[in-house]
Amino acid sequence: MIDSNTVPVFKLNDGGTIPCIGMGTFGSDRVTPDEVAQAVAGGIRAGYRLFDCAACYGNEDKIGAAFRAAMDEGVVKRGDLFIMSKVWNDMHRRVRESCLKSIADLQCDYLDMLFIHWPFPNYHAPFCDVNSRNPDSRPFSVAEFVDTYRQIEALVDEGLVKHIGISNMTIPKLEAVLGQLRVKPAACESELHPCFQQQELFDYLKARDILPIGYMPLGSPRRPERDILPEDLADMQMPELVQIARDHGCHPAIVCLKWALQRGQLPIPFSIHNYEANLRAAVTEPLTGAEMATIATLERNNRLVKGQVFLWPGANDWHDLWDEDGAITGCTDC
Ligand SMILES: NC(=O)c1ccc[n+]([C@@H]2O[C@H](COP(=O)([O-])OP(=O)(O)OC[C@H]3O[C@@H](n4cnc5c(N)ncnc54)[C@H](OP(=O)(O)O)[C@@H]3O)[C@@H](O)[C@H]2O)c1
Repeated sequence: MIDSNTVPVFKLNDGGTIPCIGMGTFGSDRVTPDEVAQAVAGGIRAGYRLFDCAACYGNEDKIGAAFRAAMDEGVVKRGDLFIMSKVWNDMHRRVRESCLKSIADLQCDYLDMLFIHWPFPNYHAPFCDVNSRNPDSRPFSVAEFVDTYRQIEALVDEGLVKHIGISNMTIPKLEAVLGQLRVKPAACESELHPCFQQQELFDYLKARDILPIGYMPLGSPRRPERDILPEDLADMQMPELVQIARDHGCHPAIVCLKWALQRGQLPIPFSIHNYEANLRAAVTEPLTGAEMATIATLERNNRLVKGQVFLWPGANDWHDLWDEDGAITGCTDC
């Protein structure tokens, strides 16, 4: 067990704080809601206070029961926890309803942060495969995104949400919307791991005091089938990273987490077996400057979540989702 008071925090742009590491809760279509909830229950007792949840993970009700039990047993109080959830793509026009359901399922009275999970309303069903397409999918729209965001701003005014998060954004999309938002986003959740460092996006967020939260911080070795391509790299098997782990007498996962923390991003590793070791990464000896520099060289632009299932009719391929040429692909009101 790790004393949660010894886990460092990041400062948010409104002066609030957030634990520097959280527990992911997406079962990747492989781990059942009960198993995830059991990990959350164990995680609280191991010292985790931050939990990255989402409506579309299909397990918030089970996780809520784990929160409730921990509170009833006096392990934590609501105010000790930092609970995050996300509005799924099919609820962009009904954000309040989605938020109230997450709050009810998570049994948490309010959310510490509510994210717009994806910046467009393109829905895909759970467990779908990589070739699945929704004919109603559309490209990004500034007006639609800002409308969704404003609904969360109203929830902040109501006290149901403390901070607003955005996720799966690109610099062109941020440029298009940031000037129109009344409440500044506190954090942006993006895929970030040694072989996909997104340095430009990372710097852009830091410069604007928006906390980068890194998902798939270990390279998500058991991600859903739809997110696996034969050419993908395995971060934790990169020889340089393995060597650094050997030098520290730890698993490469711990090196990934220390690198994330020292770089200044908040990692949210998922684990049902190793969560205590992952939390410990935040309170044990840091990597050296030379080790940090070595990991910086592992950047391979290896995006794992390509997002094919979100493509709209007429889109070319998954690169269209990520605005790689500096313009928002397909946008009609940008
Ligand atoms: N915003 C978004 O769109 C978005 C997208 C994807 C993910 N996320 C969030 O990010 C979280 C993390 O991503 P992820 O779950 O895909 O990937 P991840 O955290 O990079 O990897 C999780 C995998 O690594 C293994 N692992 C964890 N710690 C380990 C250790 N110390 N030693 C060895 N293996 C270890 C886990 O196995 P064990 O269980 O056996 O330990 C699990 O299979 C998700 O749960 C979710 O909350 C958000």
